[in-house]
Amino acid sequence: MLAAALATLALAGVTTARPAASVCADGVTTVNNPQCCFWANVRDRFINEIFLGVCQENVHSLVRIAFHDAIGFSLTDPSKGGGADGSIIMFGDTELNFHANEGIDFITAFLQPFADTVGVTYGDAIQFGAAVGLSLCPGAPTIPAFVGRPNATMAAPDLTVPEPFDDPDKIFARMADAGFTPVELIHLLASHSIADQAGVDPEPQVLGAPFDSTPFSFDSQVFLEVLFEGILFPGSGPNPGELMSPLPGEFRLQSDKRFSLHNETACAWQENALSQSAMASNFQTAFTKLSLLGHDQNSLLDCSELIAQAPPATASQGFFPAGKTMEDLEIGCDAEAFPTTLVTQAGQPTMIPPVDVQDIAFGN
Ligand code: HEM
Repeated sequence: MLAAALATLALAGVTTARPAASVCADGVTTVNNPQCCFWANVRDRFINEIFLGVCQENVHSLVRIAFHDAIGFSLTDPSKGGGADGSIIMFGDTELNFHANEGIDFITAFLQPFADTVGVTYGDAIQFGAAVGLSLCPGAPTIPAFVGRPNATMAAPDLTVPEPFDDPDKIFARMADAGFTPVELIHLLASHSIADQAGVDPEPQVLGAPFDSTPFSFDSQVFLEVLFEGILFPGSGPNPGELMSPLPGEFRLQSDKRFSLHNETACAWQENALSQSAMASNFQTAFTKLSLLGHDQNSLLDCSELIAQAPPATASQGFFPAGKTMEDLEIGCDAEAFPTTLVTQAGQPTMIPPVDVQDIAFGN
């Protein structure tokens, strides 16, 4: 009866209650919360001036700095930093000298002048920018966008950011100190699906060498490809924190490989390898938590309505790159059988191309 009445109302053009949309000063943008108009402009400037509308190097960089800034936090020790507060930029003279932050100066060189120009705090520029950037990556989940983080008041100390040469148990302890379980860490590592390196091996031929064969798509390939047996160093390796990779041009972090085989994380790793949708949803929860470290969500403004749904993943299920089969896998999860249904790409193995730097005005 009620359904029939609602259907009649709908046919008559009567809509049920929703927040009234407001038109922003530009006369075009509509928002439910007028306080988000300012942020709609910041979003558009991020997309047009920083990311150039694509999920490439500058999105990748924003997601990396989002982690390095936020993880300067401890549940019990306030001297470890204020979490997602932008201290990595505000106190860059200190934090950018830490070994684990190698290469972050590349990001801050454009993000700091951008944040100053649009008039937002560094903490917001980092976390809001990461949410906007991820919306450009096929397969990525929608990350809620909370804004209003105050400026950082202190630098985070050294050694809050894990290194790829650290023992897994050392990394788990650091993440636990910040409130993350080993499985939540694996969920965060979906970010390595859109990642490459420049500092572990600084040789020019591996500048931008990605961690999987699909660095512009937020898909489960990185979890699958880390399971392959390593057969080569793509550059000058071995370097500290590097292990042999399975494909020419691809780069492998020691920490990723060790997590994929560790008894506390191997099954979470395999779950992400086998399900793009689980991977995306796991990441959404863990990354939202990361972006709020050091803040009370209720004290922030929720402008999640500004974040678009990313395009769907190009491959909803992982695939074996040409030349790879089940025989090449090193499985660490005993609890779940690895299915034999994944398809191998046709053709000969090819070199994985590097991720190029983007040419933008900020920082140049
Ligand atoms: C065990 C923890 C982690 C370790 C040891 C680690 C290590 C690394 C290393 C060594 C690089 C290459 C940097 C370079 O040479 O330029 C990298 C890249 C990256 N990492 Fe992580 N990472 C960890 C966790 C995370 C997390 C939790 C996130 C985000 C939630 C993240 C996001 C990224 C991204 C997006 C890149 C690519 C940056 C780019 O392409 O410019 N990482 N990571």
